[in-house]
Order: sequence, then structure tokens, then C-alpha cells
Amino acid sequence: MKGQLFFFVAIIVCICAYLYNPKFARDLVKKVFTISHYHEEAPNTNQYKIFTKDELATFKGENNGKVYLGIVGHVFDVTKGRKHYGPGGGYEFFAGVDASKAYVTGNFDKEGLTDDISDLKPSEILALQNWKSFYEKDYKLVGKVEGAFFDKIGRALPLMELYKKQLKKALLEKDLIENDKQLFPPCNSEWSQANGGRIWCTTRSGGIVRDWIGVPRMYYSAGSPQPRCACVRTTGPPSHDLRSTNHKDRGDLDNPNLSLYPNCDDMSESCPLPERS
Ligand code: HEM
Repeated sequence: MKGQLFFFVAIIVCICAYLYNPKFARDLVKKVFTISHYHEEAPNTNQYKIFTKDELATFKGENNGKVYLGIVGHVFDVTKGRKHYGPGGGYEFFAGVDASKAYVTGNFDKEGLTDDISDLKPSEILALQNWKSFYEKDYKLVGKVEGAFFDKIGRALPLMELYKKQLKKALLEKDLIENDKQLFPPCNSEWSQANGGRIWCTTRSGGIVRDWIGVPRMYYSAGSPQPRCACVRTTGPPSHDLRSTNHKDRGDLDNPNLSLYPNCDDMSESCPLPERS
């Protein structure tokens, strides 16, 4: 809103200036565009202090001073967590640095304590984001740190874009997995020396509360090398065509990614688990 007002006022000023002196107006237009572009790119520096790495390194809590840490380029005041991060604390190596990578690798050596997260997988980026959310919830954000994520005036660097991209990918994957779990809830399972293994379905198996029980099937889902036991709906339309009126009333039983467990009846809610060879 502020930016729009600035732009509107600037255009009025330019028109007036053109009427007054066209060359002056042309120069003014150039300046306005440069400033407005800068406004787009530059962060609100009043709100965030930009730390250099050396500056951040002075906040390790020595002599009872403040303790700051960086994560994904964001600096948090963790002084109230001094027992963890202050001198002698179990996580003192996180103080005064952005060691984003170590939050997911658990490698707290010198080379592990780095902000270079370029080789992390989407799922690891999601775990890192969970740590960042933890700090946002429990501690105060005090700035950004110049490094792999932000430059010296706080502009996002390519790694920040990669981080966002990988995070989006991870959230999408998580959604797909969750959706898959809703359609094909995992089975209950048990094993005993006397009776061997058994798998079965209930209206709550796999933690998915539903109004149908289903029957166990081996489910080969995309991206998983091994099949898993899924409870499969046996009535109504198939999940991929829920609005169909012309269906066989067999639920998802005809899904080609499913197969029947050996020694199990077609419609049995419980099956013996085949012995592993
Ligand atoms: C990647 C591995 C790990 C990382 C990055 C990590 C990181 C952390 C951090 C940052 C804190 C402080 C949280 C705060 O500000 O309140 C913490 C606390 C804690 N961590 Fe870990 N941790 C890891 C693994 C473990 C493991 C394997 C254990 C247990 C065997 C563990 C046990 C604890 C406990 C008990 C606390 C709380 C201590 C207290 O409140 O006094 N952590 N962890």
C-alpha cells in the first residue's frame, strides 16, 4: 500500500515536472524507477538488522552476554535458552552461527556446522523448516545474517529460492502421502511365536478414522519399492471416480496396484501374514 502511494505521488510529480522542464522530468522518471525497483528487492532494513558472520559470532553468550543463533539466514535471540546454547550447554555449537545443515544431519563437527544446505533432500528441508518454525514460536527474531541465504543488505540469494522450492516439493509429497493414507489406510498387524503374523482392518486402522472397515491387500504405491498392507474399501464407486453412477459397487477392489495376500479369502477382514523367506 505504502509503495503504491509512493508510486502514485511520484507519477504526479513527474507530470508536473514534465510540464515545467522535460529533461529534468526524464531524469526524475529514471530515478523513480530505480528507487521503486530497489523497494521491491530490498528488505525492510528498519525491521531487520543484517548481521555479518563475524558480528553474529560475538553472540555466544560469553560473560553472560546475549545468545543469538542463525537458522535459514534468520537470527533468533535464544538468550532465554542459555542452558542449551550458552557456554557449556549441550547445543553451544549452534550459538553465534547459522549451522542450518546440522539441524537435520546431526553432524555437529566443524564441517557439519554450515549454512550450505544445497545438497539436502526435500524431506530434510521440511525437517529444517520445522526447526525454523520452532524458533519462530519460542524465540524472538532479531535479524538476518549475511551468508548462504542473504547478501549483505538482506536480499535473498539463490539458495533461499532453492530452499523455498524444495520446501514446496516436500509439502506436496507430504500431501500426496497423506491423501494416499486416507484412500488406502494401513492395516493393523501383530506377530506371535505361537500363531505367526496377522494383518487386519478396523474402522481406525493406520490411525485413519472412517466409517468403513475394508479388507487387507498388498498395495504397491508409486515411489515405494516394497508393497505395504492397505485396507481397501469394498463397496461404492472407486476413489478415482467417486461421482460415478455406473460402477460395480466394489469400492477400490479393482485398483490394479493391489493384490490379494496368499492364503487369504477375497473378502476377509483379517489375513495370516505370509512368512518371510
Ligand atoms: C539432529 C539431532 C538433534 C538436534 C539438531 C537437536 C537439537 C536440539 C536443540 C536445538 C535443543 C534445544 C531446544 C530449545 O531451544 O529448547 C534440544 C533439546 C533437547 N534435546 Fe536435542 N537434538 C538432537 C538430537 C537429540 C537426541 C538424539 C536426544 C536424545 C537422545 C536429544 C535430547 C534433547 C533433550 C532431552 C533436550 C531438552 C533438554 C532440556 O530441556 O534440558 N536431542 N535439542
